[in-house]
This record gives sequence, structure tokens and C-alpha cells, in this order.
Amino acid sequence: MREYKAFINNEFIENGQWLEIINPTTLKPAGRVTALKQKDIENAYKSARYAQKSWEKVDLLKRIAFINEFKNLIIKNQNEIAQIMSEEIAKNLQDSLGEVLRTVEIIDYTLEEAKRIDPKAMTGEGMGAKNKIGIFSRVAKGVILAISPFNYPFNLALAKIIPALVMGNSVVFKPATAGSLVGAYMGKLAFEAKLPKGIFNVVTGRGSEVGDLITSNPEIDMISFTGSVNVGNQIRKNGSTTDLVLELGGKDPALVLDDINLEKYANEIISGAFGYSGQRCTAIKRVFVFDNYADKLVEILKEKITKLSVGNPEDNASITPVIDVKSSDFIQGLIDDAKTKGAQVVIGDKRQNNLMWPTLLDHVKTDMRIAWEEPFGPVLPILRINSIEEMIEIANKSNFGLQASIFCQDISTALNVAKQIEVGTININSKSQRGPDCFPFLGIKDSGEGVQGIRESLLSMTRYRGIVINY
Ligand code: NAP
Ligand code: G3H
Repeated sequence: MREYKAFINNEFIENGQWLEIINPTTLKPAGRVTALKQKDIENAYKSARYAQKSWEKVDLLKRIAFINEFKNLIIKNQNEIAQIMSEEIAKNLQDSLGEVLRTVEIIDYTLEEAKRIDPKAMTGEGMGAKNKIGIFSRVAKGVILAISPFNYPFNLALAKIIPALVMGNSVVFKPATAGSLVGAYMGKLAFEAKLPKGIFNVVTGRGSEVGDLITSNPEIDMISFTGSVNVGNQIRKNGSTTDLVLELGGKDPALVLDDINLEKYANEIISGAFGYSGQRCTAIKRVFVFDNYADKLVEILKEKITKLSVGNPEDNASITPVIDVKSSDFIQGLIDDAKTKGAQVVIGDKRQNNLMWPTLLDHVKTDMRIAWEEPFGPVLPILRINSIEEMIEIANKSNFGLQASIFCQDISTALNVAKQIEVGTININSKSQRGPDCFPFLGIKDSGEGVQGIRESLLSMTRYRGIVINY
């Protein structure tokens, strides 16, 4: 069994209290991490505040060199990291390794981009102040609280931690409970990389128990959170005077507007809907299609779903157990509600505990919960809708506004529809997705506030400092 301790001020913290992490595949313990108490959490913030003052004075290239040491240890330990992740969140091994390597790419790009966060210089001439020159530099905000979700425990954590550190902030990092083993492992790597004392702290503990303590500490200058709408809203309340970037849930629609290349569209839809068993904020979570080729699309989707392997992460199955039994009960509830109200199960609707077979539901109507709620699991509803206007209307009725996909060969139609859909990003002829990671990534409505992506994260974790020269 794995055991990793919380990491505060470059010390590994043991207080006799442990948080058990359950392996979703075996439903047995995968390991444990320290369950921190109030005093430890307060110490993490004190250390972060103290350390930040010296860290922001370290030259940028020196800060980059420290982070590169940390990155080199990630590369060296890539298989171990993927293995831990796979054990605690049941992401298949190949995808877990993919997540680690994608993170290394993000780190490289972030460190390069940090060199290009140049000051802005301007004169006051346009406002009648011709004897003034202002130089506005981006400087660290201070102490950043980074909170990550279970589904990308390595990538979505470091996509916050690295931009914060390179710009001279210190970090208090709270990993998701499922994801805490790999989260606390980062503390071990930070220690080995000899990151300066106190700039990176890992606070482990169950969100429902220590979440308020973690998010309401007065030392926090900014919170970067990825997770559910409910917790995001709780953080809005606790951190109301703090800068916030929130990346929350989604109910991304795919609008299939022609049948010119249904085979290709179906490949994108399958990968979008069922990657990591549907546990992606950007997963395609509803498909809108015209009746006259809906049967054909459904047939192709069914054929492809039949070929998805279902099983264990270590065998690289496409569909692996969802994060816990409670989540699978919730997903099953959405399927059962749809069935009761007349939806047709094309394939799936089978489960063993939290291992759920990929499910395709046809003839889904807007009175069914699955038309609106985020399952975060391997289930895809098909809504047959016969006008583009109605598709847009139903897409926009959702409380979520993360992403959408439009499948259509006529670029004018695609662009015209894209402009009317109320989400952060519209993907024409591909699944919805966060990457490439240099793109801005954002949700509107309940899907979030603020923007992530490499450059945007560097900007959101800094503020302007203006120096005005009068002559
Ligand atoms: P979650 O339950 O909201 O948890 C997210 C993080 O918040 C975890 O670290 C969790 O810790 C912590 N937390 C829980 N309660 C807290 C509290 N009261 N105060 C502070 N922190 C608290 O979300 P999840 O189940 O991990 O992830 C699934 C959700 O995240 C889905 O809705 C998905 O769409 C969304 N998501 C969105 C994006 C995006 O970029 N838009 C990306 C990934 C996921 P514990 O685990 O210890 O409870
Ligand atoms: O789960 C939310 C992630 O931000 C989605 O990232 O589109 O690369 O899977 P992804």
C-alpha cells in the first residue's frame, strides 16, 4: 500500500491522522495520505507567505532552472507517476502516461512563455499628460491556492502550479481525495528537486472536512479551482474577496448538421463521449441530429461502441470503472429516468458495481434529466431535432457553457451556427477538448469564470505594477 505525507515548508507532515484512498478498480485501499488538521493548514499558508517574499526576488531564469529540475524528475519518474494515477483514479495506463507527458509539454511551453510576459510601456499624451511615461510590469499576486479535480490529478494540478511558481508566487495545493497519492507524490519530487523552502505546499485532506478552512484563509491572494459547480459556488462564497479562476462542469453538445462524413463524425463523437469513461468536463454529453440520417448515425455509433473494450486500467481498457460506486449510482439514475420516460437503449445499460458499459440512448427528449445533467460517465444521449434553430435553442438552454462541437462541411453554416452558441469554445468538425494547451480555455455561465490556458494562466496569476516617470 502506498503512503505519502502532506508537504509543508519542505517537511513531510505526519500527525497520526490518515486519509484512505480507494482504488476504483478493486474497491480496496490504494494507499493513504496525511489528513491535515487546522494547525497544519494554517502553517502551510504562513510558510507560503514567508517564502513568497524571497522567491519573487529570484531572477526569472533562476526560477525556471529550479522548475526544470522538478520537471526532469517528472520525466525520470513518468512510469511510476502513471502507475500511481492509474491505481487511484482507474485511468488506463496508456492515458495516465499520456497525461504525464502532456504535462511535461505544458511545463516546457509555460517556462518559455513566461519569458515573454513583457511590461507594457505607454505615454499619457492621449489624456493630455504628455510628460508622463508609464511602465506596467506583471508581478506575482502572492499566495495562490490551487485546487484540482480527480479526473486529471497530475495535469490540471501542474497547469496551475507551474505558471504560479514561475511568475514568483508561492503555492498551496489541495489535490482531490482521489488524486491525493499523485498529488502528495509531487511534494516528494519538489523536495528532491530542492525547490526553495515553503514555495510549494501540498495540503491533503477531504474537501468536505477541510475545504472551508483551506479556501477561507486570509493569506490567499488568488484561487485557481477546477471541479464541480457546487464546490465552485462554495468557493465563490468563501473566497469572495480573493481573485478567482473557476473551471467547472459542462454539458457539451455536438450538433450534426449534415451526413457528408458520418463515419468521421462518429469517430470524434465516440472519442469525445467515452474518453476516460466520459469523466472529462469537455466530454460530448449530448448529440443533436436530424431525423433523416439519425438512424444511420446511431447505427455507426453502435458499431463503434461495440468495439470499445471494457475492463481494467492496467489492461488499457477503453472503458474502466468510474471513480466510485456513488457516481455510478448517479449515472444509472440518469439512464433509468430516461428509460422510464421513453428513451431507447441502443447498447449498454449494464454494470458491475462502478464498472459501467458504454451506453447509447436514442430518442432522448427534453423532459429527461440526461438531456440537461452532467453524468460524468460513459453514457451518451441522442436527441433527434429537426431544425437548426431548435438545436441552438436547446444548446443554449443549458446552465452550462463550456464547449460545443459542430459537424458540418459547409463552413458558412458552421460559422453562422457557431456564433449563436453560448459557450466558451466551439469546435468545428472535432470533439470538444481543452487542448492544444496554448489555447485559452474557458467556460461561461455555470461552467466557470476567468480563463485558463498557458498564457492566460500566467496573466491571471500576476497583476500589473505601474511605475510612472514624470519628466
Ligand atoms: P469536485 O467534487 O468539485 O472536487 C474538486 C476539488 O474540490 C477536489 O480537490 C475536492 O476535494 C475539492 N473540494 C471538495 N469540497 C470542497 C470544499 N468544500 N472546499 C474546497 N474544496 C473542496 O469535483 P470532482 O468530482 O473532482 O471533478 C468532477 C467535476 O469537475 C465535474 O463536474 C467536471 O465537469 C468538473 N471538471 C471541470 C473541468 C474544467 O476544466 N471545466 C475539468 C475537470 C473537471 P475532495 O476530492 O477531497 O472532495
Ligand atoms: O476534464 C476537464 C479537462 O479540462 C478536459 O481536458 O479536453 O483535454 O480532456 P481534455
